[in-house]
Amino acid sequence: MSEDERTFVMVKPDGVQRGLIGEIVSRFEERGLKLVGGKFMQIDDDLAHEHYGEHEDKPFFDDLVEFITSGPVFAMVWEGADATRQVRSMVGETDPAESAPGTIRGDFGLDLGRNVIHASDHEDEGANEREIDLFFDEEELLDYERIDAAWLY
Ligand code: TYD
Ligand code: MG
Repeated sequence: MSEDERTFVMVKPDGVQRGLIGEIVSRFEERGLKLVGGKFMQIDDDLAHEHYGEHEDKPFFDDLVEFITSGPVFAMVWEGADATRQVRSMVGETDPAESAPGTIRGDFGLDLGRNVIHASDHEDEGANEREIDLFFDEEELLDYERIDAAWLY
């Protein structure tokens, strides 16, 4: 296992509107990751363009920006060994139809656009740190001991 790592996760507008915040937070808590930041917020156009900048030239970009700014999101930072890879394996594939049952997108995702959750890509070096910096100030990330610390990732 590697050193503790932080990763960025966000319940998208569809997940918020369907009442899935609690379910999603529970899965990461129960898996043994530690919540160190959380923010219920509305993404504006500038932040959407910056966050999804890598997809600027893709045909789905405009729809993606429109969707992610269409309602509030719940942004989070989760901490644990290999947190970025760990969270992505719990999230599933980009397309819910290709995501295994038991993954968040496999259990709740509707289609490619409305796939309930964003998580930093472990195959994109440094994406976790970049996305955390984009959404959170350092003083918004809080440390504490969980009483089940021996069982955490
Ligand atoms: P991407 O970064 O490839 O996926 P992931 O969220 O798994 O990291 O794409 C970002 C989002 O863009 C994705 O969650 C849903 C949307 N998207 C589409 O709407 N159509 C597409 O063909 C792709 C690849 C993504
Ligand atoms: Mg991605």
